[in-house]
Amino acid sequence: FSVPQPQNEPVLNYGPRSVERGALKAALDEARSKVIDIPMYIGDKLVHTGKKLEIRPPHDHKHLLATFHEGDAATVNAAIDAALAAKAAWEEMPWEQRASIFLKAAELLSGPYRAKINAATMLGQSKNAYQAEIDAACEFIDFLRFNVHYMAEIYAQQPPISPKGVWNRVEQRPLEGFVFALTPFNFTAIAGNLPASAAMMGNVVVWKPAYPQIYAANVIMQVFKEAGLPDGVINLIYVDGPVAGEVIFNHHDFAGIHFTGSTKVFQNIWQTIGNNIHKYRTYPRIVGETGGKDFVLAHPSADADVVSTALIRGAFEYQGQKCSAASRAYIPASLWPAVKANVQRDVASIKVGPVEDFGNFVNAVITEASFDKLAKYIDAAKADKSVELVAGGSYDKSQGWFVDPTIIKVDDPYYVTMCEELFGPVLTIYVYEDDKFDELLDIVDKTSIYALTGSIISQDRYAIAKATYALRNSAGNFYINDKPTGAVVGQQPFGGARGSGTNDKAGSALNLQRWVSPRTIKETF
Ligand code: NAD
Ligand code: ALA
Repeated sequence: FSVPQPQNEPVLNYGPRSVERGALKAALDEARSKVIDIPMYIGDKLVHTGKKLEIRPPHDHKHLLATFHEGDAATVNAAIDAALAAKAAWEEMPWEQRASIFLKAAELLSGPYRAKINAATMLGQSKNAYQAEIDAACEFIDFLRFNVHYMAEIYAQQPPISPKGVWNRVEQRPLEGFVFALTPFNFTAIAGNLPASAAMMGNVVVWKPAYPQIYAANVIMQVFKEAGLPDGVINLIYVDGPVAGEVIFNHHDFAGIHFTGSTKVFQNIWQTIGNNIHKYRTYPRIVGETGGKDFVLAHPSADADVVSTALIRGAFEYQGQKCSAASRAYIPASLWPAVKANVQRDVASIKVGPVEDFGNFVNAVITEASFDKLAKYIDAAKADKSVELVAGGSYDKSQGWFVDPTIIKVDDPYYVTMCEELFGPVLTIYVYEDDKFDELLDIVDKTSIYALTGSIISQDRYAIAKATYALRNSAGNFYINDKPTGAVVGQQPFGGARGSGTNDKAGSALNLQRWVSPRTIKETF
Protein backbone atom coordinates (compact mmCIF):
# COMPACT_ATOMS: atom_id res chain seq x y z
CA PHE A 1 0.00 0.00 0.00
CA SER A 2 0.93 3.61 -0.24
CA VAL A 3 0.63 4.16 3.55
CA PRO A 4 3.44 3.36 5.96
CA GLN A 5 3.53 -0.15 7.45
CA PRO A 6 2.39 0.46 11.05
CA GLN A 7 4.44 -0.63 14.03
CA ASN A 8 3.16 -0.68 17.61
CA GLU A 9 4.22 2.45 19.46
CA PRO A 10 6.92 1.47 22.00
CA VAL A 11 5.82 1.83 25.64
CA LEU A 12 8.09 4.34 27.37
CA ASN A 13 9.69 3.61 30.71
CA TYR A 14 8.79 6.07 33.48
CA GLY A 15 11.45 4.85 35.92
CA PRO A 16 12.84 7.17 38.59
CA ARG A 17 15.04 9.96 37.16
CA SER A 18 14.07 9.06 33.56
CA VAL A 19 13.57 11.88 31.07
CA GLU A 20 10.00 10.62 30.51
CA ARG A 21 9.14 10.83 34.19
CA GLY A 22 10.55 14.37 34.32
CA ALA A 23 8.43 15.49 31.37
CA LEU A 24 5.32 13.82 32.77
CA LYS A 25 5.80 15.32 36.24
CA ALA A 26 6.16 18.77 34.64
CA ALA A 27 2.93 18.23 32.68
CA LEU A 28 1.13 17.11 35.85
CA ASP A 29 2.38 20.16 37.77
CA GLU A 30 1.36 22.46 34.94
CA ALA A 31 -2.12 20.91 34.77
CA ARG A 32 -2.62 21.13 38.53
CA SER A 33 -1.39 24.73 38.72
CA LYS A 34 -4.43 26.23 36.96
CA VAL A 35 -8.15 25.75 36.52
CA ILE A 36 -8.89 25.59 32.80
CA ASP A 37 -12.26 26.35 31.25
CA ILE A 38 -13.14 23.80 28.56
CA PRO A 39 -15.38 24.78 25.62
CA MET A 40 -17.29 22.56 23.24
CA TYR A 41 -16.06 22.38 19.63
CA ILE A 42 -18.83 22.89 17.10
CA GLY A 43 -17.89 23.71 13.48
CA ASP A 44 -15.42 26.59 13.63
CA LYS A 45 -16.66 27.75 17.04
CA LEU A 46 -15.52 27.18 20.60
CA VAL A 47 -18.84 27.13 22.41
CA HIS A 48 -19.28 28.45 25.97
CA THR A 49 -22.85 28.06 27.20
CA GLY A 50 -22.18 29.55 30.63
CA LYS A 51 -23.62 26.46 32.32
CA LYS A 52 -20.38 25.38 33.94
CA LEU A 53 -19.76 22.01 35.58
CA GLU A 54 -16.64 21.03 37.50
CA ILE A 55 -13.95 18.41 36.90
CA ARG A 56 -12.01 17.13 39.91
CA PRO A 57 -9.45 14.31 40.02
CA PRO A 58 -11.16 11.16 41.35
CA HIS A 59 -8.20 10.69 43.74
CA ASP A 60 -8.33 14.26 45.04
CA HIS A 61 -11.88 15.56 44.96
CA LYS A 62 -11.05 18.73 46.87
CA HIS A 63 -8.94 19.97 43.96
CA LEU A 64 -10.67 21.81 41.12
CA LEU A 65 -8.98 20.92 37.83
CA ALA A 66 -11.29 22.45 35.25
CA THR A 67 -14.76 23.58 34.38
CA PHE A 68 -16.61 22.68 31.21
CA HIS A 69 -19.66 24.11 29.49
CA GLU A 70 -22.69 21.88 29.35
CA GLY A 71 -24.98 22.10 26.34
CA ASP A 72 -28.61 21.20 25.71
CA ALA A 73 -30.81 20.02 22.85
CA ALA A 74 -30.04 23.18 20.84
CA THR A 75 -26.33 22.41 21.17
CA VAL A 76 -26.86 18.94 19.73
CA ASN A 77 -28.77 20.37 16.79
CA ALA A 78 -26.01 22.92 16.20
CA ALA A 79 -23.42 20.11 16.21
CA ILE A 80 -25.45 18.09 13.69
CA ASP A 81 -25.83 21.16 11.45
CA ALA A 82 -22.09 21.86 11.63
CA ALA A 83 -21.32 18.22 10.78
CA LEU A 84 -23.66 18.20 7.79
CA ALA A 85 -22.24 21.52 6.57
CA ALA A 86 -18.73 20.03 6.58
CA LYS A 87 -19.79 16.82 4.85
CA ALA A 88 -19.44 17.61 1.14
CA ALA A 89 -15.89 18.97 1.33
CA TRP A 90 -14.73 16.16 3.64
CA GLU A 91 -16.18 13.44 1.42
CA GLU A 92 -14.54 14.91 -1.65
CA MET A 93 -11.11 15.10 -0.04
CA PRO A 94 -8.86 12.31 -1.45
CA TRP A 95 -8.53 9.57 1.16
CA GLU A 96 -4.74 9.97 1.27
CA GLN A 97 -5.23 13.52 2.55
CA ARG A 98 -7.67 12.33 5.21
CA ALA A 99 -5.15 9.64 6.15
CA SER A 100 -2.34 12.13 6.50
CA ILE A 101 -4.33 14.15 9.05
CA PHE A 102 -4.68 11.11 11.32
CA LEU A 103 -1.07 10.04 10.80
CA LYS A 104 -0.05 13.56 11.78
CA ALA A 105 -2.24 13.29 14.90
CA ALA A 106 -0.39 10.06 15.79
CA GLU A 107 2.95 11.87 15.42
CA LEU A 108 1.77 14.70 17.68
CA LEU A 109 0.67 12.21 20.34
CA SER A 110 3.93 10.30 20.04
CA GLY A 111 5.98 13.48 20.53
CA PRO A 112 4.88 16.94 21.66
CA TYR A 113 1.49 15.93 23.14
CA ARG A 114 2.55 12.71 24.85
CA ALA A 115 3.12 14.09 28.34
CA LYS A 116 0.04 16.31 28.10
CA ILE A 117 -2.39 13.55 27.07
CA ASN A 118 -0.94 11.19 29.67
CA ALA A 119 -1.18 13.83 32.41
CA ALA A 120 -4.77 14.62 31.41
CA THR A 121 -5.65 10.90 31.57
CA MET A 122 -3.94 10.50 34.96
CA LEU A 123 -5.69 13.50 36.49
CA GLY A 124 -9.09 13.19 34.83
CA GLN A 125 -9.50 9.43 35.22
CA SER A 126 -7.08 8.57 38.06
CA LYS A 127 -5.03 6.25 35.90
CA ASN A 128 -1.41 5.67 36.96
CA ALA A 129 1.49 6.73 34.71
CA TYR A 130 2.05 3.26 33.24
CA GLN A 131 -1.63 2.65 32.54
CA ALA A 132 -1.98 6.14 31.03
CA GLU A 133 1.02 5.53 28.76
CA ILE A 134 -0.45 2.24 27.51
CA ASP A 135 -3.87 3.81 26.92
CA ALA A 136 -3.59 7.49 26.00
CA ALA A 137 -0.26 7.33 24.20
CA CYS A 138 0.38 3.83 22.80
CA GLU A 139 -3.10 2.42 22.18
CA PHE A 140 -4.43 5.69 20.79
CA ILE A 141 -1.43 6.11 18.47
CA ASP A 142 -1.76 2.47 17.39
CA PHE A 143 -5.47 2.91 16.63
CA LEU A 144 -4.68 5.87 14.38
CA ARG A 145 -1.76 4.29 12.50
CA PHE A 146 -3.25 0.80 12.11
CA ASN A 147 -6.65 2.15 11.13
CA VAL A 148 -5.08 4.25 8.40
CA HIS A 149 -3.50 1.03 7.17
CA TYR A 150 -6.85 -0.83 7.25
CA MET A 151 -8.44 2.11 5.49
CA ALA A 152 -5.91 1.82 2.67
CA GLU A 153 -6.62 -1.93 2.56
CA ILE A 154 -10.35 -1.26 2.12
CA TYR A 155 -9.79 1.25 -0.69
CA ALA A 156 -7.38 -1.21 -2.35
CA GLN A 157 -9.76 -4.18 -2.27
CA GLN A 158 -9.76 -6.37 -5.37
CA PRO A 159 -12.54 -5.26 -7.73
CA PRO A 160 -15.12 -7.84 -8.86
CA ILE A 161 -14.38 -9.61 -12.15
CA SER A 162 -15.30 -7.81 -15.37
CA PRO A 163 -16.17 -9.80 -18.50
CA LYS A 164 -15.12 -8.42 -21.87
CA GLY A 165 -16.78 -5.11 -22.68
CA VAL A 166 -17.73 -4.39 -19.08
CA TRP A 167 -16.00 -2.68 -16.16
CA ASN A 168 -17.35 -3.65 -12.74
CA ARG A 169 -16.12 -1.74 -9.75
CA VAL A 170 -17.05 -1.03 -6.12
CA GLU A 171 -16.94 2.42 -4.63
CA GLN A 172 -16.64 2.77 -0.81
CA ARG A 173 -18.98 5.64 -0.01
CA PRO A 174 -19.16 7.37 3.37
CA LEU A 175 -22.52 6.90 5.13
CA GLU A 176 -25.34 9.20 4.12
CA GLY A 177 -25.82 11.52 7.09
CA PHE A 178 -23.75 11.89 10.29
CA VAL A 179 -22.25 9.40 12.76
CA PHE A 180 -22.75 9.70 16.52
CA ALA A 181 -19.69 8.69 18.59
CA LEU A 182 -20.64 7.99 22.20
CA THR A 183 -17.63 7.22 24.35
CA PRO A 184 -17.05 5.86 27.89
CA PHE A 185 -15.02 7.31 30.74
CA ASN A 186 -12.37 4.66 31.01
CA PHE A 187 -10.14 4.81 27.92
CA THR A 188 -8.65 7.87 26.25
CA ALA A 189 -7.73 5.67 23.27
CA ILE A 190 -11.35 4.63 22.81
CA ALA A 191 -12.55 8.21 23.22
CA GLY A 192 -10.28 9.28 20.39
CA ASN A 193 -10.72 6.22 18.22
CA LEU A 194 -14.50 6.12 17.98
CA PRO A 195 -14.92 9.50 16.28
CA ALA A 196 -11.61 9.18 14.38
CA SER A 197 -12.29 5.80 12.75
CA ALA A 198 -15.67 6.93 11.42
CA ALA A 199 -14.24 10.29 10.27
CA MET A 200 -11.29 8.61 8.57
CA MET A 201 -13.69 6.83 6.20
CA GLY A 202 -15.11 10.18 5.07
CA ASN A 203 -17.91 10.60 7.63
CA VAL A 204 -18.79 13.62 9.71
CA VAL A 205 -19.25 13.04 13.42
CA VAL A 206 -20.97 14.34 16.53
CA TRP A 207 -18.93 13.13 19.50
CA LYS A 208 -20.20 13.02 23.08
CA PRO A 209 -17.79 11.70 25.71
CA ALA A 210 -18.73 10.57 29.23
CA TYR A 211 -18.25 13.53 31.58
CA PRO A 212 -15.20 12.13 33.45
CA GLN A 213 -13.52 11.80 30.05
CA ILE A 214 -13.91 15.48 29.08
CA TYR A 215 -10.58 16.63 30.52
CA ALA A 216 -8.67 14.30 28.15
CA ALA A 217 -11.19 14.73 25.29
CA ASN A 218 -10.28 18.41 25.20
CA VAL A 219 -6.62 17.48 24.54
CA ILE A 220 -7.66 14.94 21.89
CA MET A 221 -9.59 17.66 20.07
CA GLN A 222 -6.59 20.01 20.25
CA VAL A 223 -4.47 17.28 18.65
CA PHE A 224 -7.00 16.67 15.85
CA LYS A 225 -7.18 20.42 15.16
CA GLU A 226 -3.42 20.86 15.15
CA ALA A 227 -3.14 17.88 12.80
CA GLY A 228 -5.32 19.77 10.31
CA LEU A 229 -8.79 18.27 10.80
CA PRO A 230 -11.21 20.64 9.06
CA ASP A 231 -13.83 22.40 11.19
CA GLY A 232 -17.09 20.50 11.56
CA VAL A 233 -15.75 17.03 10.72
CA ILE A 234 -15.73 16.04 14.40
CA ASN A 235 -17.89 18.13 16.73
CA LEU A 236 -17.28 17.62 20.44
CA ILE A 237 -20.22 18.29 22.74
CA TYR A 238 -20.94 17.88 26.45
CA VAL A 239 -24.58 17.10 26.85
CA ASP A 240 -26.42 14.76 29.20
CA GLY A 241 -26.72 11.34 27.46
CA PRO A 242 -30.53 11.07 27.26
CA VAL A 243 -30.81 14.74 26.13
CA ALA A 244 -28.33 14.11 23.32
CA GLY A 245 -30.01 10.81 22.44
CA GLU A 246 -33.44 12.43 22.15
CA VAL A 247 -32.19 14.75 19.38
CA ILE A 248 -29.80 12.37 17.63
CA PHE A 249 -32.05 9.31 17.46
CA ASN A 250 -34.97 11.33 16.11
CA HIS A 251 -32.92 12.96 13.37
CA HIS A 252 -33.54 12.08 9.72
CA ASP A 253 -29.80 12.21 8.92
CA PHE A 254 -28.70 9.88 11.72
CA ALA A 255 -26.57 7.31 9.84
CA GLY A 256 -24.77 5.34 12.53
CA ILE A 257 -23.59 5.08 16.11
CA HIS A 258 -20.10 4.13 17.25
CA PHE A 259 -20.60 3.30 20.92
CA THR A 260 -18.54 1.99 23.79
CA GLY A 261 -20.09 1.87 27.24
CA SER A 262 -22.39 -0.19 29.40
CA THR A 263 -24.65 -2.95 28.13
CA LYS A 264 -27.79 -1.40 29.59
CA VAL A 265 -27.28 1.96 27.87
CA PHE A 266 -26.51 0.27 24.53
CA GLN A 267 -29.60 -1.92 24.75
CA ASN A 268 -31.75 1.17 25.43
CA ILE A 269 -30.17 2.95 22.48
CA TRP A 270 -30.75 -0.02 20.17
CA GLN A 271 -34.39 -0.14 21.23
CA THR A 272 -34.84 3.60 20.62
CA ILE A 273 -33.25 3.30 17.18
CA GLY A 274 -35.57 0.39 16.39
CA ASN A 275 -38.62 2.38 17.45
CA ASN A 276 -37.54 5.32 15.29
CA ILE A 277 -36.41 3.34 12.26
CA HIS A 278 -39.02 4.86 9.94
CA LYS A 279 -37.62 8.35 10.62
CA TYR A 280 -34.22 7.69 9.06
CA ARG A 281 -33.09 7.98 5.47
CA THR A 282 -31.21 4.68 5.76
CA TYR A 283 -30.73 1.78 8.17
CA PRO A 284 -28.17 3.17 10.61
CA ARG A 285 -24.96 1.30 11.38
CA ILE A 286 -25.07 0.19 15.02
CA VAL A 287 -21.63 -0.66 16.36
CA GLY A 288 -21.25 -1.08 20.10
CA GLU A 289 -18.70 -2.53 22.50
CA THR A 290 -20.24 -2.97 25.93
CA GLY A 291 -19.72 -4.58 29.35
CA GLY A 292 -17.74 -7.59 30.47
CA LYS A 293 -17.54 -10.16 33.26
CA ASP A 294 -14.22 -11.61 32.29
CA PHE A 295 -12.82 -14.85 33.66
CA VAL A 296 -9.61 -16.60 34.55
CA LEU A 297 -9.99 -20.37 34.54
CA ALA A 298 -7.14 -22.35 36.07
CA HIS A 299 -6.73 -26.05 35.30
CA PRO A 300 -5.20 -28.38 37.94
CA SER A 301 -2.07 -28.59 35.75
CA ALA A 302 -1.51 -24.80 35.97
CA ASP A 303 1.45 -23.15 37.64
CA ALA A 304 0.19 -21.35 40.78
CA ASP A 305 2.50 -18.35 40.20
CA VAL A 306 1.23 -17.85 36.65
CA VAL A 307 -2.35 -18.02 37.93
CA SER A 308 -1.73 -15.50 40.72
CA THR A 309 -0.03 -13.01 38.40
CA ALA A 310 -2.90 -13.26 35.94
CA LEU A 311 -5.36 -12.62 38.77
CA ILE A 312 -3.56 -9.65 40.30
CA ARG A 313 -2.72 -7.90 37.04
CA GLY A 314 -5.98 -8.86 35.34
CA ALA A 315 -8.19 -7.75 38.21
CA PHE A 316 -6.47 -4.70 39.65
CA GLU A 317 -4.72 -2.78 36.88
CA TYR A 318 -6.59 0.48 36.47
CA GLN A 319 -8.69 -0.42 39.53
CA GLY A 320 -10.47 -3.11 37.53
CA GLN A 321 -12.16 -0.39 35.47
CA LYS A 322 -11.43 -2.15 32.20
CA CYS A 323 -14.10 -3.89 30.19
CA SER A 324 -11.56 -6.72 29.98
CA ALA A 325 -10.72 -6.88 33.71
CA ALA A 326 -10.58 -10.32 35.33
CA SER A 327 -13.49 -10.19 37.75
CA ARG A 328 -14.31 -13.88 38.23
CA ALA A 329 -11.95 -16.81 38.58
CA TYR A 330 -12.20 -20.58 38.86
CA ILE A 331 -9.39 -22.24 40.80
CA PRO A 332 -8.98 -26.01 41.37
CA ALA A 333 -8.96 -27.10 45.02
CA SER A 334 -5.46 -28.55 44.73
CA LEU A 335 -4.03 -25.17 43.67
CA TRP A 336 -6.05 -22.97 45.98
CA PRO A 337 -3.74 -22.97 49.04
CA ALA A 338 -0.76 -21.80 46.95
CA VAL A 339 -2.80 -19.30 44.89
CA LYS A 340 -4.44 -17.93 48.04
CA ALA A 341 -1.09 -17.39 49.78
CA ASN A 342 0.28 -15.65 46.68
CA VAL A 343 -2.64 -13.28 46.15
CA GLN A 344 -2.82 -12.39 49.86
CA ARG A 345 0.89 -11.56 49.79
CA ASP A 346 0.53 -9.53 46.59
CA VAL A 347 -2.55 -7.58 47.65
CA ALA A 348 -0.84 -6.69 50.94
CA SER A 349 2.07 -5.24 48.96
CA ILE A 350 -0.06 -3.14 46.58
CA LYS A 351 0.11 0.57 47.30
CA VAL A 352 -3.18 2.44 46.97
CA GLY A 353 -3.20 6.21 46.54
CA PRO A 354 -3.06 9.22 44.20
CA VAL A 355 -1.50 9.01 40.74
CA GLU A 356 1.06 11.71 41.47
CA ASP A 357 3.00 9.15 43.55
CA PHE A 358 4.29 6.79 40.85
CA GLY A 359 4.65 4.00 43.42
CA ASN A 360 0.87 3.68 43.79
CA PHE A 361 -0.42 0.78 41.71
CA VAL A 362 -4.11 1.18 42.54
CA ASN A 363 -5.65 4.65 42.35
CA ALA A 364 -9.19 5.94 42.80
CA VAL A 365 -12.32 4.65 41.10
CA ILE A 366 -13.99 7.09 38.78
CA THR A 367 -16.91 8.64 40.69
CA GLU A 368 -18.68 8.67 44.03
CA ALA A 369 -21.51 6.65 42.46
CA SER A 370 -19.03 3.97 41.43
CA PHE A 371 -17.42 4.05 44.90
CA ASP A 372 -20.82 3.68 46.63
CA LYS A 373 -21.84 0.80 44.36
CA LEU A 374 -18.60 -1.09 45.05
CA ALA A 375 -18.83 -0.44 48.80
CA LYS A 376 -22.36 -1.85 48.79
CA TYR A 377 -21.30 -5.09 47.10
CA ILE A 378 -18.26 -5.45 49.38
CA ASP A 379 -20.43 -4.93 52.48
CA ALA A 380 -22.97 -7.47 51.26
CA ALA A 381 -20.19 -10.01 50.70
CA LYS A 382 -18.73 -9.32 54.15
CA ALA A 383 -22.14 -9.82 55.75
CA ASP A 384 -22.75 -13.10 53.91
CA LYS A 385 -21.60 -16.10 55.98
CA SER A 386 -21.11 -18.22 52.86
CA VAL A 387 -18.53 -15.77 51.47
CA GLU A 388 -14.88 -15.61 52.58
CA LEU A 389 -13.03 -12.30 52.43
CA VAL A 390 -9.62 -13.36 51.09
CA ALA A 391 -7.99 -9.95 50.79
CA GLY A 392 -8.80 -6.23 50.99
CA GLY A 393 -12.37 -5.22 51.74
CA SER A 394 -11.73 -1.62 52.85
CA TYR A 395 -12.61 1.66 51.20
CA ASP A 396 -12.21 5.34 52.02
CA LYS A 397 -13.63 8.43 50.34
CA SER A 398 -12.24 11.17 52.55
CA GLN A 399 -9.70 12.37 49.93
CA GLY A 400 -10.60 10.39 46.81
CA TRP A 401 -12.77 7.46 45.76
CA PHE A 402 -10.39 4.75 47.01
CA VAL A 403 -11.44 1.11 47.10
CA ASP A 404 -8.80 -1.40 48.19
CA PRO A 405 -8.14 -4.33 45.88
CA THR A 406 -10.56 -6.94 47.19
CA ILE A 407 -10.81 -10.69 46.69
CA ILE A 408 -13.73 -12.76 47.89
CA LYS A 409 -14.28 -16.52 47.66
CA VAL A 410 -17.76 -17.87 47.12
CA ASP A 411 -19.16 -21.38 47.27
CA ASP A 412 -21.77 -20.77 44.58
CA PRO A 413 -20.59 -20.30 40.97
CA TYR A 414 -23.81 -18.38 40.29
CA TYR A 415 -23.23 -15.90 43.16
CA VAL A 416 -24.17 -12.37 42.13
CA THR A 417 -20.59 -11.11 41.79
CA MET A 418 -19.73 -14.12 39.60
CA CYS A 419 -22.28 -12.84 37.08
CA GLU A 420 -22.73 -9.04 37.34
CA GLU A 421 -20.24 -6.46 36.10
CA LEU A 422 -19.14 -4.30 39.08
CA PHE A 423 -16.43 -2.36 37.22
CA GLY A 424 -13.97 -1.95 40.07
CA PRO A 425 -11.15 -3.72 41.95
CA VAL A 426 -13.22 -6.65 43.19
CA LEU A 427 -12.38 -10.22 42.17
CA THR A 428 -14.64 -13.17 43.02
CA ILE A 429 -13.17 -16.67 43.15
CA TYR A 430 -14.93 -20.01 43.00
CA VAL A 431 -12.89 -23.05 44.02
CA TYR A 432 -13.87 -26.27 42.24
CA GLU A 433 -13.03 -29.94 42.78
CA ASP A 434 -10.14 -30.96 40.50
CA ASP A 435 -12.12 -33.77 38.88
CA LYS A 436 -15.02 -31.45 37.97
CA PHE A 437 -13.22 -29.50 35.22
CA ASP A 438 -15.56 -30.71 32.46
CA GLU A 439 -18.71 -29.76 34.39
CA LEU A 440 -17.11 -26.42 35.21
CA LEU A 441 -16.68 -25.54 31.54
CA ASP A 442 -20.43 -25.75 31.19
CA ILE A 443 -20.97 -23.45 34.20
CA VAL A 444 -18.46 -20.90 32.89
CA ASP A 445 -20.27 -20.79 29.58
CA LYS A 446 -23.72 -20.57 31.20
CA THR A 447 -22.65 -17.63 33.37
CA SER A 448 -21.07 -15.82 30.41
CA ILE A 449 -23.99 -13.47 29.87
CA TYR A 450 -21.26 -11.11 28.79
CA ALA A 451 -18.68 -12.62 26.45
CA LEU A 452 -15.78 -10.21 26.16
CA THR A 453 -12.56 -11.80 27.44
CA GLY A 454 -11.44 -14.89 29.30
CA SER A 455 -8.38 -17.00 29.87
CA ILE A 456 -7.43 -20.61 30.50
CA ILE A 457 -4.26 -21.31 32.45
CA SER A 458 -3.01 -24.85 32.04
CA GLN A 459 0.03 -26.92 31.14
CA ASP A 460 -2.17 -29.67 29.75
CA ARG A 461 -2.65 -29.37 25.95
CA TYR A 462 -5.77 -31.52 26.02
CA ALA A 463 -7.42 -29.33 28.68
CA ILE A 464 -6.48 -26.19 26.71
CA ALA A 465 -8.04 -27.60 23.55
CA LYS A 466 -11.17 -28.66 25.42
CA ALA A 467 -11.64 -25.25 27.08
CA THR A 468 -10.90 -23.36 23.87
CA TYR A 469 -13.72 -25.22 22.13
CA ALA A 470 -16.21 -25.38 25.03
CA LEU A 471 -15.84 -21.64 25.68
CA ARG A 472 -15.83 -20.57 22.02
CA ASN A 473 -18.86 -18.33 22.55
CA SER A 474 -17.95 -17.17 26.08
CA ALA A 475 -15.31 -14.63 25.03
CA GLY A 476 -14.49 -12.59 21.92
CA ASN A 477 -10.87 -12.38 23.10
CA PHE A 478 -9.57 -15.65 24.58
CA TYR A 479 -6.15 -15.97 26.17
CA ILE A 480 -4.14 -19.11 26.85
CA ASN A 481 -1.72 -18.88 29.77
CA ASP A 482 -2.10 -15.12 30.22
CA LYS A 483 -4.31 -12.56 31.94
CA PRO A 484 -7.47 -11.71 30.00
CA THR A 485 -6.55 -8.03 29.53
CA GLY A 486 -4.17 -5.91 27.52
CA ALA A 487 -5.14 -6.48 23.88
CA VAL A 488 -2.74 -4.66 21.57
CA VAL A 489 -3.98 -2.98 18.38
CA GLY A 490 -2.77 -4.85 15.30
CA GLN A 491 -2.07 -7.97 17.40
CA GLN A 492 -5.37 -8.93 19.06
CA PRO A 493 -8.40 -7.28 17.40
CA PHE A 494 -10.71 -6.53 20.33
CA GLY A 495 -14.40 -7.09 21.04
CA GLY A 496 -17.01 -9.49 22.32
CA ALA A 497 -20.48 -10.79 21.52
CA ARG A 498 -23.51 -11.70 23.70
CA GLY A 499 -23.93 -8.88 26.27
CA SER A 500 -20.53 -7.47 25.34
CA GLY A 501 -21.38 -5.94 22.01
CA THR A 502 -21.62 -6.29 18.27
CA ASN A 503 -18.06 -7.67 18.08
CA ASP A 504 -16.96 -5.40 15.25
CA LYS A 505 -13.39 -5.67 16.59
CA ALA A 506 -11.88 -2.31 17.44
CA GLY A 507 -8.60 -1.90 15.59
CA SER A 508 -9.48 -4.01 12.56
CA ALA A 509 -10.51 -3.63 8.93
CA LEU A 510 -13.89 -5.11 9.91
CA ASN A 511 -14.60 -2.10 12.12
CA LEU A 512 -13.62 0.45 9.47
CA GLN A 513 -15.70 -1.35 6.88
CA ARG A 514 -18.79 -0.52 8.97
CA TRP A 515 -18.27 3.18 8.26
CA VAL A 516 -18.69 2.91 4.51
CA SER A 517 -21.60 1.89 2.35
CA PRO A 518 -20.30 0.28 -0.86
CA ARG A 519 -21.77 1.12 -4.26
CA THR A 520 -21.33 -1.34 -7.14
CA ILE A 521 -20.91 0.30 -10.53
CA LYS A 522 -21.23 -1.60 -13.81
CA GLU A 523 -20.16 0.20 -16.96
CA THR A 524 -20.85 -1.34 -20.35
CA PHE A 525 -18.65 -0.20 -23.22
P1 NAD B 1 -22.00 4.34 30.15
O1 NAD B 1 -22.82 3.35 29.41
O2 NAD B 1 -22.52 4.84 31.45
O3 NAD B 1 -21.75 5.63 29.25
C1 NAD B 1 -21.26 5.53 27.90
C2 NAD B 1 -21.68 6.77 27.15
O4 NAD B 1 -23.10 6.76 26.98
C3 NAD B 1 -21.36 8.06 27.91
O5 NAD B 1 -20.93 9.04 26.98
C4 NAD B 1 -22.69 8.42 28.55
O6 NAD B 1 -22.83 9.78 28.83
C5 NAD B 1 -23.65 7.98 27.47
N1 NAD B 1 -25.02 7.71 27.94
C6 NAD B 1 -25.39 7.24 29.14
N2 NAD B 1 -26.73 7.08 29.17
C7 NAD B 1 -27.20 7.46 27.95
C8 NAD B 1 -28.50 7.51 27.35
N3 NAD B 1 -29.59 7.15 28.02
N4 NAD B 1 -28.60 7.97 26.06
C9 NAD B 1 -27.50 8.32 25.37
N5 NAD B 1 -26.25 8.29 25.90
C10 NAD B 1 -26.11 7.86 27.16
O7 NAD B 1 -20.54 3.69 30.33
P2 NAD B 1 -19.30 4.21 31.19
O8 NAD B 1 -19.62 4.05 32.65
O9 NAD B 1 -18.82 5.52 30.71
O10 NAD B 1 -18.20 3.13 30.78
C11 NAD B 1 -18.06 1.91 31.43
C12 NAD B 1 -18.72 0.80 30.65
O11 NAD B 1 -18.14 0.73 29.34
C13 NAD B 1 -18.50 -0.57 31.27
O12 NAD B 1 -19.69 -1.31 31.20
C14 NAD B 1 -17.41 -1.19 30.39
O13 NAD B 1 -17.40 -2.58 30.39
C15 NAD B 1 -17.76 -0.61 29.05
N6 NAD B 1 -16.60 -0.62 28.15
C16 NAD B 1 -16.58 -1.56 27.16
C17 NAD B 1 -15.49 -1.65 26.32
C18 NAD B 1 -15.43 -2.69 25.24
O14 NAD B 1 -14.59 -2.59 24.36
N7 NAD B 1 -16.30 -3.69 25.26
C19 NAD B 1 -14.41 -0.77 26.48
C20 NAD B 1 -14.49 0.19 27.48
C21 NAD B 1 -15.59 0.26 28.31
N1 ALA C 1 -7.81 -3.09 25.01
C1 ALA C 1 -8.04 -3.13 26.42
C2 ALA C 1 -7.71 -4.46 27.00
O1 ALA C 1 -7.66 -5.44 26.31
C3 ALA C 1 -9.44 -2.74 26.76
O2 ALA C 1 -7.52 -4.54 28.19
